[in-house]
Amino acid sequence: MTARKFGEIEARVKALQSGKRFAHTLGVVKEAEYIAEACGFSTECVEKARLAALLHDITKNFSDEEQAKMFAKYGIDVPSEPPTMHEKTGAYFARELFGEETVDDEIFFAIFCHTTGKTGMSAFDMVIFIADFTEETREHKSCRDMRAYLHAECEKLNGESEKAEALLRNVTLKIIGDTLNFLTLKKRKIDLRTVEAWNFLAE
Ligand SMILES: [Fe+2]
Repeated sequence: MTARKFGEIEARVKALQSGKRFAHTLGVVKEAEYIAEACGFSTECVEKARLAALLHDITKNFSDEEQAKMFAKYGIDVPSEPPTMHEKTGAYFARELFGEETVDDEIFFAIFCHTTGKTGMSAFDMVIFIADFTEETREHKSCRDMRAYLHAECEKLNGESEKAEALLRNVTLKIIGDTLNFLTLKKRKIDLRTVEAWNFLAE
């Protein structure tokens, strides 16, 4: 993808997001690029990770009512509570706006699971999932600690793909563990796909 096309998509995303959300989006783009490069992804895959990161929260600032309408419009039948609806609507909406050639299956499905996770997550899915948590504008202590751990481990990878896959799985599992702790402490509902992601990655 050309820098110009990426810039055009970036402008569309910016117009749909609050200033804070857009700053987060740019943080995820930068973080996904860093992780993908450290893990030895091809140049093409790093570019795709940047694009998936740019699009991942495209519907995050839409209201619950708008999310529900989009569920009906796109025929999304995956059960979802309001905090995680945007991952599904975002995948469909991004594809509707920019086409299947730009939002291919790898990008679509990475957006579709970036909040809940899912069973069988790919390395690409995990890069977006992790970057969403560890990007630089996230200030919560658990995010800062995870970012410090991830970056220290990334610096040791030297592009070794087996070690990279193990690191992605390990960090994804840690983030899901943090999320499960948070949700149980707050007595909130847990998306079944998050439980499946945990079981998929746990020993
Ligand atoms: Fe996000």
